[in-house]
Amino acid sequence: MSDATGPSEDVLPRGRPTLQHLFETNPCVKVSGPMVRYSKLPARLLWRKWGCDLVYTPMFVASCFAVSQRARDCDFTTTLPEANPADRPLIVQFAVADPQIFVNASRIAFANGSCDGVDINCGCPQKWVCTDGYGSSLLERPQDIVAMLRAARDQIPEVPVSVKIRHILADDELKNRHNEPTRESLYRTIELAKAVQDAGACPSRILTHTVIYAHGDIRTRRYTHTVIYIHIIYITPNPHAPCMDRASDGLLTVHGRTAKTSSSVPVCLEGIKMIKETLSIPVIANGDIFAPDDVLRTQEMTGVNGVMSARGLLQNPALYAGYNRVPAAAVQDFLDLSIQYGLSYHLLHNHLMFMLYPVLARAERRELAECASLCALMDFCAAQGLWTPFESRPAVAGVTPGML
Ligand SMILES: Cc1cc2nc3c(=O)[nH]c(=O)nc-3n(C[C@H](O)[C@H](O)[C@H](O)COP(=O)(O)O)c2cc1C
Repeated sequence: MSDATGPSEDVLPRGRPTLQHLFETNPCVKVSGPMVRYSKLPARLLWRKWGCDLVYTPMFVASCFAVSQRARDCDFTTTLPEANPADRPLIVQFAVADPQIFVNASRIAFANGSCDGVDINCGCPQKWVCTDGYGSSLLERPQDIVAMLRAARDQIPEVPVSVKIRHILADDELKNRHNEPTRESLYRTIELAKAVQDAGACPSRILTHTVIYAHGDIRTRRYTHTVIYIHIIYITPNPHAPCMDRASDGLLTVHGRTAKTSSSVPVCLEGIKMIKETLSIPVIANGDIFAPDDVLRTQEMTGVNGVMSARGLLQNPALYAGYNRVPAAAVQDFLDLSIQYGLSYHLLHNHLMFMLYPVLARAERRELAECASLCALMDFCAAQGLWTPFESRPAVAGVTPGML
């Protein structure tokens, strides 16, 4: 709503201030993680409707995105910022290692208000991603991450940039059979986090001198009771550093595992806490958020500005709304959104398997697994009382039953 005195304060401004507003007004921003194949428009709208504050797209290969309209059309569907429902705030994630390609792809993604920020994927451990120099292989080349952030800062300062990292797998004396983060790993990850902040996010607050001493074994959960000591001494802010007032634009997500830690090994929250305590830009904790209690637990243990869930939201898209199991109404919403905005049968089937597997009896799971078409899925959900066919819904003024 706007009037003669200007826009009212409850309307989020478009573009850059949206993320700023989100983190300033929300003590724990609830985020859905980027998921190749799964974070498509219908799922994103579903997660938003059920409590998600900030949503990531799946990872797009920036070199294709930057040059091919066809690639963009295939990969990236969104709604207009003023649409209802709006697919905002949204961060577009890239697999990228080249500064100019990152700038070009980000400029296109940000144009026309299609998103609120862009993200560099520095966490994906998949072989093809790392072979091409993207994803978690970037953790071994922090200078390449910094170069991309600097290029973005210099050429597209209006675009907020987020970076998603994991704990770095270090080859130190504490390397363990689960490939969990170690003392050396945490030390290197904190150094990277600071480099990310200094390069892209917050030049006005560059520290002229930071000393970190790390002692002890961070693996307190399993191996030892040694306490972690990290002392950070900030000497002085650099008064001569250029001030671009981007303090609220940078954003770091930390998945609390190394690229080789199995996803069944509990996430290392101690490391995320240390990173959060070191940085001034918002930090999001990622890993093992499966239930509403996990949101609280993670935030309390790390002090982060937000939490990110991926597999948890696949199973229960309403977890951020406080539900421990997927409610029937969320399944109905998902089917409606998928029909309205389009989703391939295979993806829809996979989503329903994730959501319903934990709540269905064995025979019903088998029945769902055998559904071989969209119509079969709709019939199955209708028979389970999870979806009401359009023709059975009460007529809304101006809309004929059966119409979308
Ligand atoms: C199916 C699937 C696809 C994923 N795709 C991406 C991706 O495109 N980009 C990315 O940074 N992480 C991706 N991830 C990793 C998640 O974003 C997240 O970091 C990881 O699953 C840990 O969070 P969780 O414990 O909440 O699942 C993917 C994870 C899953 C399960």
